[in-house]
Amino acid sequence: MSSSNLTVIVLAAGGGTRMRSKTMKVLHPIGGRSMIGHVLAAVQAMQPERVVAVVGHQRDQVGPHITSLMPEAVLAVQDEQQGTGHAVRVAVEALTVGSSDGQPGTALRGTVVVAYGDTPLLTGDSLRSFAAEHEAAQCAVSILSGIVARPFGYGRVVRDEDGDVLAIVEEKDATPQQREIAEINSGILAFDAEFLAEALPRIGNDNANGEYYLTDTVQLARDAGLTVGAYPIDDVMQTEGVNDRVQLAALAREHNDRIVTRWMREGVTIIDPTTTWIDSDVVLERDVTILPGTQLLGVTVVAEDAVIGPDTTLKDCEIGAGARVVRVHGELAVVGASAEVGPFSYLRPGTRLGSEGKIGGFVETKNAVIGDGAKVPHLSYVGDADIGEGTNIGAGTIFANYDGVAKHRTRIGRHAKTASNNTFVAPVEVGDGAATGAGTVVRRDVPAGALAVSAGPQRTIMGWALRRRAGTPQAHAAEAAGAPREEAPGEASHDTDPG
Ligand code: UD1
Ligand code: MG
Repeated sequence: MSSSNLTVIVLAAGGGTRMRSKTMKVLHPIGGRSMIGHVLAAVQAMQPERVVAVVGHQRDQVGPHITSLMPEAVLAVQDEQQGTGHAVRVAVEALTVGSSDGQPGTALRGTVVVAYGDTPLLTGDSLRSFAAEHEAAQCAVSILSGIVARPFGYGRVVRDEDGDVLAIVEEKDATPQQREIAEINSGILAFDAEFLAEALPRIGNDNANGEYYLTDTVQLARDAGLTVGAYPIDDVMQTEGVNDRVQLAALAREHNDRIVTRWMREGVTIIDPTTTWIDSDVVLERDVTILPGTQLLGVTVVAEDAVIGPDTTLKDCEIGAGARVVRVHGELAVVGASAEVGPFSYLRPGTRLGSEGKIGGFVETKNAVIGDGAKVPHLSYVGDADIGEGTNIGAGTIFANYDGVAKHRTRIGRHAKTASNNTFVAPVEVGDGAATGAGTVVRRDVPAGALAVSAGPQRTIMGWALRRRAGTPQAHAAEAAGAPREEAPGEASHDTDPG
């Protein structure tokens, strides 16, 4: 479809005071994207020639955000919010600043669609078909309307007995009869550009709010004998805006329901849709299973047959086919095919677990590359490390990466076996096929195939509990087990072979 004559104006200058937030309303996120991010994505799907975003309140926050998402969008600044008609006039003026003759409106041609920045459920398909209907009917103005049970607060679409649209009347200006009308203006309007350019300067502010209403263009078109269309959208939630945090939560829930439903239809098993949250940009392959209490956030990708959850949060993670991720908190981590993670693991940025590898219970990893089939099964911290394929790290191992000033890396080779309760004091290297004894503090490199042991020899003092803990249950138990009272001279035993 051709969009070469399409201009889209997104209104986002309003204050959003009912959010009671230092963050501008349209920047509040739903499904991992700002509300205006959702609107801009829908607008992008129309492939418009020009996009103008009208910013005002907190434009230092909103302007750069819009530019980061859509660099080609023109930002128009509306210092004082004098109504939607005024906002669109500001947008049109911003477009003509650079035009050759500097005359307002000359840069406009074709169709102009006006949308709001706070309608996160809006889709590109809906905008496209609305613009197509508008163009096919050759209307001066078209209204994307909606039939709602509670029209309070909205502009009502007033039609004559033939069903032709006469006007949009705002709540405060409506007669009691007009307030009964269930067809409302969603706020999304389409205009013939030439008509809009002529109509904008003629909009007055003689109304209950003292504002310039964009909706007055309907009456102006009728007075000029031009056609006005109104097309009710079936899915009215798509045009619903957010004014406070209660509506934010309601639309976030609705957005999530839609995403979860879409993935189930695509072949993903979701055991509990109500406790599963999936962001807009997440990608799931077929036969993924998601267990209750799971949040898949950001640009997380999960490959086929992986099982995620329960109670797992993954942000910007990549999970390989057939992997199992149980009760995990992960961010910017990559988990290989058929690998196992959890329960209760914390994957921090830069974690890369190879295929069939394992990161087990109560293990924290960061900037850690763990090879294929390598395992860190229990109670460990692995920071700034490379662990080769097939290597096993003993329970309770700490990769001491920080000397108080700088971070250093530990490298462990392939098929090494390090024992329990080790500390690797970085920078340090352990070679391929090397081993360590329990409790070793590895401060110096261990060559390939070597065994490193640093724990001191064990000293055993016979009869200690009977002498030093006399009268306690400990001493009684030792006595009952036949423990001698005295330490025979020269009898202290030494464990000289920790392997
Ligand atoms: C508007 C419509 C109403 C419609 C309703 C749908 C008008 C006069 N009324 O009413 O028919 O049913 O939306 O939600 O158009 N904005 C600016 N600058 C301004 C004023 C508003 O950028 O000077 C932006 C706001 O940030 C908001 C949008 O335009 O995103 C709508 O403004 P709002 O004040 O909410 O209009 P409503 O009174 O709700
Ligand atoms: Mg409103």
